[in-house]
Amino acid sequence: MPALNASATVVVIGAGAMGAGIAQVAAQAGHPVRLYDNRAGAAAQAIDGIDRQLGRLVEKGKLDAEARSAIVARLQPAEAIEALADASLVIEAIVENLEVKRGLLRQLEALCSADCILASNTSSLSITSLAAGLQHPGRVLGMHFFNPAPLMALVEIVSGLASDPALAQCLYETAKAWGKQPVHTKSTPGFIVNRVARPFYAESLRLLQEGAADCATLDALMRDAGGFRMGAFELTDLIGHDVNYAVTCSVFDAYYGDFRFQPSLIQKELVDAGRLGRKSGRGFYDYAEGAERPHP
Ligand code: NAI
Repeated sequence: MPALNASATVVVIGAGAMGAGIAQVAAQAGHPVRLYDNRAGAAAQAIDGIDRQLGRLVEKGKLDAEARSAIVARLQPAEAIEALADASLVIEAIVENLEVKRGLLRQLEALCSADCILASNTSSLSITSLAAGLQHPGRVLGMHFFNPAPLMALVEIVSGLASDPALAQCLYETAKAWGKQPVHTKSTPGFIVNRVARPFYAESLRLLQEGAADCATLDALMRDAGGFRMGAFELTDLIGHDVNYAVTCSVFDAYYGDFRFQPSLIQKELVDAGRLGRKSGRGFYDYAEGAERPHP
């Protein structure tokens, strides 16, 4: 099955870090995009943020002003979920919680046409479980982008037991048409990258808990000596501790409590304190406005 036609409407649900990035990618590829969030004003705010990001590219001479305006004009906030009925592809990027995502998918199934693809940007949840109980489970797939979505090339196209292979191919071709590097994978806990990355986070957190070194030292080592793009603490601050912790819990549960995937109490404390990382202004590091640089 070929890629989605560029004139097809793409709906993105959840206007957080990932939803905003995915909406930008789809709009840059020429799609009319509608962005919806159940937090009033969040979608419009996210579109303003995208506009500012694109403005920085214009200033650097990487994008021309006309292209910026055209991309932003293709992005529309939706104030009610009912306004999303004409979508050809919905990508949900809401909270990483199985029951909440299942509830949304049930709502979307009742709302959208039968041939609309329902994709989830979930980092770890079973696509098979997300689709279970729907009338047309074949149209539910994972389309898992990485953070920040406009910059990161990889997209995992995840098939659950019931997913239609033709639709998986359509999402694969669509991701390619959007300039991404897609990979097909099955619905296994954490899929590929988040599964492989679990020990990276878990062992870094254990080292911190054992007092081997502080997080800035550990990050600097992994980055400067280890050749990683980012250390585990700056990376989880970027991802968001609520998201990263939920992913670890979901992989841990899916593997029947396998110790290798045990969630970290240090990270749970951050979540409980609302220190979610960059998005809340503080995580392992402090991102307070005016701070010369984030510090632990
Ligand atoms: P976020 O917390 O930045 O944004 C989530 C947004 O969804 C919020 O604006 C919230 O108001 C909205 N929302 C929550 N429930 C909703 C509902 N029922 N209906 C409509 N909107 C709702 O989270 P983020 O980081 O964007 O993650 C979203 C999804 O993407 C999660 O499933 C996460 O696992 C996945 N993901 C996250 C990555 C990351 O690095 N943060 C990377 C790849 C995937």
